[in-house]
Amino acid sequence: MKGIILAGGLATRLYPLTHATNKHLLPVYDKPMIYYPIQTLVKAGITEVLVVTSGPHAGHFLRVLENGKQFGLTHLEYAYQSTSNGGISDALAYAEDFADSGPITVILGDNTTDADISKAVQTFKKGAKVFLKKVPDPQRFGVPVFENNKIIRIDEKPQKPASDFAVVGLYIFDNRCFDFIRTLQPSVRGELEVTDLNNKYIELGELEWAELDGFWTDAGTFKTLFKANEYWAASSTSYN
Ligand code: DAU
Repeated sequence: MKGIILAGGLATRLYPLTHATNKHLLPVYDKPMIYYPIQTLVKAGITEVLVVTSGPHAGHFLRVLENGKQFGLTHLEYAYQSTSNGGISDALAYAEDFADSGPITVILGDNTTDADISKAVQTFKKGAKVFLKKVPDPQRFGVPVFENNKIIRIDEKPQKPASDFAVVGLYIFDNRCFDFIRTLQPSVRGELEVTDLNNKYIELGELEWAELDGFWTDAGTFKTLFKANEYWAASSTSYN
């Protein structure tokens, strides 16, 4: 399976840090943020990766990641999202050629986790798979609505969350995702939402879910960037 890291967007929530460089190159303890999603993919056995990025600092990625061999990648490609804040599904659309008719594992460049998803990747056949994590602030995320243990809908940033789960920024899609993205309309915040893409799979009865084992956080706000730094520092053998 091939992997996609979505590292576009404007990251206005992290100004003025993101005046200096792209959000996904900011430090999380002793590494640039994007190293973590790369590690998640490599741990899952994925060595062919596309990084979709955008904005004024897009060129910085090449200098930091080079050809990806240092991470164990066999192939590293880059794509440039022209509408910097077009949304996660808009960014994913740039991966269609790279996916080459196959399924893909997608991870958001500001998500860090120590979970091992290799089994889910190896056993994936059709449809889509999302991963959930219990959080204290579900209104910041895509939130699943359950009926008899089945997800019947995902609400994006609901004021009144129907559960205390977040849909984390880690997804497995079959190749039909690109056809579905073409049918999406921008949301109220003007973005093509990944939640709307997931809802397409739900309508077809083809969305599976699993709870993500281990630590997970996004790092897209000062609070969560700090939380990610704390976790990775504490779990590092070089920190004392
Ligand atoms: O972290 C998980 C959450 O990520 C999910 O629960 C939500 O359903 C999902 O919409 C997303 O929420 P955020 O509002 O936190 O996403 P954000 O706009 O911060 O974008 C997250 C990453 O996606 C960002 O680091 C890079 C990528 N992205 C985002 C946008 C808007 C792009 O590559 N291009 C974009 O246009």
